[in-house]
Amino acid sequence: MADLRANLAGIKSPNPFWLASAPPTNSGYQIMKAFDAGWGGAVWKTLGVPVQNVSSRYGALNYRGKRMMGFNNIELITDRPLNVNLKEIEEVKKYFPDHAVIASLMVQSREEWHQIVKDVENAGADGIELNFGCPHGMCERGMGSAVGQEPDVLQTITEWVMEVATIPVIVKLTPNISDITVPARAASRAKADAISLINTIQSVIGVDLDTLVPHPIVDGQSTNGGYCGPAVKPIALNMVKNCAQDPEVGLPISGIGGIETWRDAAEHILLGSSNVQVCTAVMHYGFGIIREMTSGLDQYMNDKGFKTLDDMIGKSLQTVKKWEHLNLHYKVVAEINDDKCIGCQLCYTACEDGAHQAIGLSGDGENRVPHIIEENCVGCNLCALVCPVEECITMDRRDDGTKHDTWSQRGDRGEQPTTFNDDKAGGLHHWVPTVQDALKQIKESKA
Ligand SMILES: Cc1cc2nc3c(=O)[nH]c(=O)nc-3n(C[C@H](O)[C@H](O)[C@H](O)COP(=O)(O)O)c2cc1C
Ligand code: SF4
Ligand code: SF4
Repeated sequence: MADLRANLAGIKSPNPFWLASAPPTNSGYQIMKAFDAGWGGAVWKTLGVPVQNVSSRYGALNYRGKRMMGFNNIELITDRPLNVNLKEIEEVKKYFPDHAVIASLMVQSREEWHQIVKDVENAGADGIELNFGCPHGMCERGMGSAVGQEPDVLQTITEWVMEVATIPVIVKLTPNISDITVPARAASRAKADAISLINTIQSVIGVDLDTLVPHPIVDGQSTNGGYCGPAVKPIALNMVKNCAQDPEVGLPISGIGGIETWRDAAEHILLGSSNVQVCTAVMHYGFGIIREMTSGLDQYMNDKGFKTLDDMIGKSLQTVKKWEHLNLHYKVVAEINDDKCIGCQLCYTACEDGAHQAIGLSGDGENRVPHIIEENCVGCNLCALVCPVEECITMDRRDDGTKHDTWSQRGDRGEQPTTFNDDKAGGLHHWVPTVQDALKQIKESKA
């Protein structure tokens, strides 16, 4: 068995799976049950300034049979009294001393920050997470993402917290910003112990076409919400990677966003997360998903020879470069496995209309089967991505692997194309059907 014990900036947990600050961590009742089910830690639903929540609160993007592919909420921080939450933190820690309980906080003045930090420390929290990410409601009041979008303010408030905190402090970042490393660096300058990301992405999930009101609807009106769930994982992974690769950030990362299975968690860890947090997947399927997450990660680590999480954290980072350092001589083309092909022609349509006209059809009518026109194929992957049959279209390497040249190296040698019609540009010699070819086909189809 692999050693799944995790350590984020000194906060230890039996495994790297934490519940993110959200409805599943609203109460001691829920967190007790989650720990019993196998979760390693929980970030308490954000405590702080008094709020009142609205009804309704959530909306979802269902995509072709998959419920809650994306999830949207307009909920604020906790509306339960602070003293009740503090009491429950204390109780949970009594029953689960080895599990991580993190207090997520959001207040305004320096005095309030000092007070609430002391309160949660006294209650026995193992760490503090600063919610600088909520992109709805709280930001209108100058908190949440309003702080996360202003690196100087983020730094100042984090410094206030660091003045009194004696337990590790995690700064939770908002993705509603063009360069995530800017606030991450500000957290680092403020001497925070770690960062967590991402919080939700500001969004309108959709419009009710009968009432014309966007979801979720509150008495005939709506407001922008925060987007999360499986759909946001690629955005989260990119931001985690950016922070992990930036030496000026240099902080441990708690990865959040779109994690539903052990595979999602593994991807976050490989791109630099020391542990992970989960919200939407638990709101969808409940605490029980932890069993497959831990056993799946354990199995994967065993298969790959990772004995501890430290062996695995950030292992993919060395393969992620700036575009200008990619090998321009690397060449793949699509190959169709005729034995697997069911003749649906999806690949043909995709390549013909959406890519490079590199798939032909042979045979008659319904029975036509696709073949790759190799000299036209740019190796874009599209046909393999649309093909509904697993491993039916594969990408096959055609260069012999001996040549390596990048855009950056070409620049160093003064060999980059410099004018719009420059002969050195890549696509110039690529075969493309002509306007006349299109005209011919249009006429034929109308004949
Ligand atoms: C209904 C709801 C309420 C949330 N409340 C909070 C909160 O109080 N504090 C916080 O830091 N993040 C909050 N979040 C954001 C989550 O902690 C998490 O960052 C985000 O949902 C992305 O993770 P996911 O894709 O696993 O859902 C909330 C998310 C949802 C869906
Ligand atoms: S890889 Fe791209 S260009 Fe090549 S056949 Fe497939 S879709 Fe067409
Ligand atoms: S998409 Fe796949 S299964 Fe369908 S025709 Fe193309 S190769 Fe065959």
